[in-house]
Amino acid sequence: MADDRIPFSPPRIDEVTIQAVTDVLRSGWITSGPQLRAFEAEVSGYVHDRAVICLNAWTNACELVLRWFGVGPGDEVILPAYTYAATANIVIHVGATPVLVDVVPGTCHIDIKAMERAITSKTKVIMPVDIGGMPVDYDGIMAVLKDKSDVFVPSNDVQKLLGRVLFLADAAHSFGAKYKDEMVGAQADVTGYSFHAVKNLTTAEGGALAFNLPAPFDNYGVRNRMRISSLHGQTKDAFSKTVGGSWRYDVIEAGFKCNMTDLQAAIGLVELKRYDETLGWRKRTCELYNRLFADIPEVETPVFENTNSESSYHLYMLRVNNCSEEQRDAIIDRIQEKGVAVNVHFQPLPLLSFYKDLGYKMDDYPNAFAYYQNEISLPVWFGLADHQVTRIVRNVVDSIRETLK
Ligand SMILES: Cc1ncc(COP(=O)(O)O)c(C=O)c1O
Repeated sequence: MADDRIPFSPPRIDEVTIQAVTDVLRSGWITSGPQLRAFEAEVSGYVHDRAVICLNAWTNACELVLRWFGVGPGDEVILPAYTYAATANIVIHVGATPVLVDVVPGTCHIDIKAMERAITSKTKVIMPVDIGGMPVDYDGIMAVLKDKSDVFVPSNDVQKLLGRVLFLADAAHSFGAKYKDEMVGAQADVTGYSFHAVKNLTTAEGGALAFNLPAPFDNYGVRNRMRISSLHGQTKDAFSKTVGGSWRYDVIEAGFKCNMTDLQAAIGLVELKRYDETLGWRKRTCELYNRLFADIPEVETPVFENTNSESSYHLYMLRVNNCSEEQRDAIIDRIQEKGVAVNVHFQPLPLLSFYKDLGYKMDDYPNAFAYYQNEISLPVWFGLADHQVTRIVRNVVDSIRETLK
């Protein structure tokens, strides 16, 4: 194996990050406190002043949304078969049923027509996914939900107030992507981002919600309530108790424990300050890949822009033409032997044991399987040099030709 191995997605950590974390370690306050509040304010500003909460992961953040909306046994939540398990797992956590729909042929975006057909009186939430960072058709999806409001059967006051299916966007990959010139976060009712270690902007582990519920919802009120739910249902957090006033607090629900710490938020603050630079680097890398692959007939390159949207350039999802799943896996083995770390995003949910055992069948989602079977995600990260991109492309093309010859 080459000793100059190219990693898949190392985080952008340098002395600035290390200093920021060190400062928090020395400050005497390491869990949720002033750094977290500052990071939430910055994230809020970044997504056009939406109410924002930062928590310990996309997963727990979005599960809190399902619980706030009162989703439970007997309810259905629609999501694409082509996503990471987290999107469906949170539906299982609350006791509801994930209803999987296929993607549009040749893309990994939910098929809006199939989604519309899947809406029943049991549907409470839809969770489209901006796979790779490319936004779904937010307006098209919202139009369907409004159009189908007569089918919606509310079972609590929050659901009555909304009067239709909730649009919870899985924007785990698309923080910083744009839809119709606005940041992703300004379109769906609630948008969930991930700041996991391999994401464009990381806090090691972490996630955030941006609230965009229509009137008469009080988005800041909902955000504040979710803060309480993320801390055992406690009306006062530990930091507030240290800064004077009454120590006394109440617990108003059996809440969860999924707050973000100041150590994580300090990383996020550094990342966000230079996020434009990070996104610019990623964009340049993806465009260089597309140029270098342009004359290679064996591959199909990903799309990062269309008339409505610009991606956050989270993943470079290459597809190999006329290639079976087994051949794709053999190509990946060859690429890895040449010292380049690659990945597959994603195994559709019906391929995974848990979902297979629940009865979901891959044959019901042919477009998702077709996309998955020849997909290979290539390295994209801040600092990846042009000569490394050139080497990756050469290794990928050689590996494809050695396998498909
Ligand atoms: C599409 C998608 N949704 C949700 C998640 C979960 O994010 P987190 O790890 O922050 O909980 C991920 C994580 O990779 C993801 O890829």
